[in-house]
Amino acid sequence: MKGIVLAGGTGSRLHPITKGISKQLVPLYDKPMVYYPISVLMLAQIRDILLITTLEDQHDFKKLLGDGSQYGINIEYVVQPSPDGLAQAFILGEEFIKDDSVAMVLGDNIFYGSNFINILKEAKSNAENKKASVFGYEVKDPQRFGIMELDENNNVISVEEKPEQPKSDYAITGLYFYDNSVVEKAKSLKPSKRNELEITDLNRIYLEENKLKACLLDSGFTWFDTGTPDSLLDASNMIRTIQKNRGSIISCLEQIAFKNGWLTIDELLDRAEALRKNEYGQYLFKKAEKAKTKKLEK
Ligand code: DAU
Repeated sequence: MKGIVLAGGTGSRLHPITKGISKQLVPLYDKPMVYYPISVLMLAQIRDILLITTLEDQHDFKKLLGDGSQYGINIEYVVQPSPDGLAQAFILGEEFIKDDSVAMVLGDNIFYGSNFINILKEAKSNAENKKASVFGYEVKDPQRFGIMELDENNNVISVEEKPEQPKSDYAITGLYFYDNSVVEKAKSLKPSKRNELEITDLNRIYLEENKLKACLLDSGFTWFDTGTPDSLLDASNMIRTIQKNRGSIISCLEQIAFKNGWLTIDELLDRAEALRKNEYGQYLFKKAEKAKTKKLEK
């Protein structure tokens, strides 16, 4: 399975913060925002990742992430010339996706919660069975999001983009798993009234084919769409609180790569060495030393 991180857009709702820097490179507590969505794909065991950005921001993302090898992944880059809609990602990504299934995560969406790996596994297996998966999260302001309506068995019965009168409080979060037919489906879309290829229209095609599955993220789960200054601060505060309480780092890409068997202990130590002057690097040292001791004990 392939992965796409969509990190384009103008970020105008966060100006002046995002006037000189891409929104998805703004820090969320101790790391750039884009780390969090990349970690979601890595938790889903996806190693080949396409990063879609604007032309002017691509250089900054390459400076930060390079080819991804320091995280045991392969990152390719494509430019989205103008923000013509989320579903355009699958047209821009056609050559990268080839004949694979694909997951897409929005570069400004933060997911954190228990059982996430199992939820991702289920979505991956849906995609392998030619089905699409969307992830629902109950919100208090459903007018701001794509919304899914569910029946009593949690089957999706309708999807709507930012409805004035929402039929439910379940937002469709910015994470989507599709089979390979998504490329042709995206190509068949017509631009909406706001002149975008809408992800909700794409999901509606799957729904009409009876191939749209809902995975629900329960109240113990945290999801942020970091679209406003308040949500940026809320997300940063949440990450800081969890990290301080648990003594661990959320979305530590090197740690996930190591757990996935994509980096060796020595590679983890190299990364720690390169970052030794900060807490992130010290954390990597701790993880590598722990793994070394464990290995020696065996
Ligand atoms: O966050 C979840 C929501 O994301 C969903 O509930 C909605 O169904 C979906 O349409 C989307 O709504 P937003 O109003 O948040 O979309 P926005 O235009 O803000 O774009 C989301 C991110 O994707 C943002 O960081 C910019 C980026 N983007 C957006 C567009 C339209 C692109 O990279 N390219 C684009 O063409």
